[in-house]
Amino acid sequence: MSVFGVDIGGSGIKGAPVDLDRGDLTEERCKVLTPHPATPDAVADCVKEVVTHFGWQGPIGATFPGVVTHGVTRTAANVDKGWIGTDAAGLLSERVGLPVTLLNDADAAGMAEMAYGAGRGRSGTVIVLTLGTGIGSAVFVDGKLLPNTELGHLELHGHEAEKRASTKVKEDEELSWEHWARRVTKYLAHVEMLFSPELFVIGGGVSRKADKFLPLIEGIQAEIVPAALQNNAGIVGAGMAAAAAVTTTAAG
Ligand code: BGC
Repeated sequence: MSVFGVDIGGSGIKGAPVDLDRGDLTEERCKVLTPHPATPDAVADCVKEVVTHFGWQGPIGATFPGVVTHGVTRTAANVDKGWIGTDAAGLLSERVGLPVTLLNDADAAGMAEMAYGAGRGRSGTVIVLTLGTGIGSAVFVDGKLLPNTELGHLELHGHEAEKRASTKVKEDEELSWEHWARRVTKYLAHVEMLFSPELFVIGGGVSRKADKFLPLIEGIQAEIVPAALQNNAGIVGAGMAAAAAVTTTAAG
């Protein structure tokens, strides 16, 4: 099946057709800069631009950096607050003129990692964490996703975890790898205390530099590995969600 994935992020809106056999993009992705303010209306125009670039006709999956239930965006920690309570899937479908399935960005990246990347074939509890502007989480039990877990907002020493251990915080506070790794370690220890996963998959752009910080993380029982799909995980996961929606519609 041919599907299209769009990854809506704080800095860019990226999309491409997705090959679900390989878990990869079939063409080089198209990226437009996220407008500021990133209102639903302005972002919908960008999604349309990305889809039109490929002349795409068919199902689309899109990610959003917040809680999404039944196509409605419920939170907006790092984007315009106008998204809260918006029927975003409806808005995007109407603007693009094609069916759009919407899901949380970390859930999408996690689904792609479980199907094609670092979590492939892994059973038990697996937690995918994306470290970026915020911290996203995707929790899987025997490959099945528990959506919208939002573990980046756990409280750690009186602060929201993503305000202490995201890569944005590392940059803003100019933390050394050692200093930042200590914060990530405390965060992982906290998540481990709550969920006892067998595997942590660390995603987000920083997973490309895993050799700089993963060796500094000690004292965690679970195995810790970098994400394999890196930049394209969100787009691939969005494509998977689009395909799942088509299958569900056909069956129901
Ligand atoms: C949001 C999550 C999102 C994560 C990564 C957090 O601030 O609440 O929904 O997955 O950032 O973008």
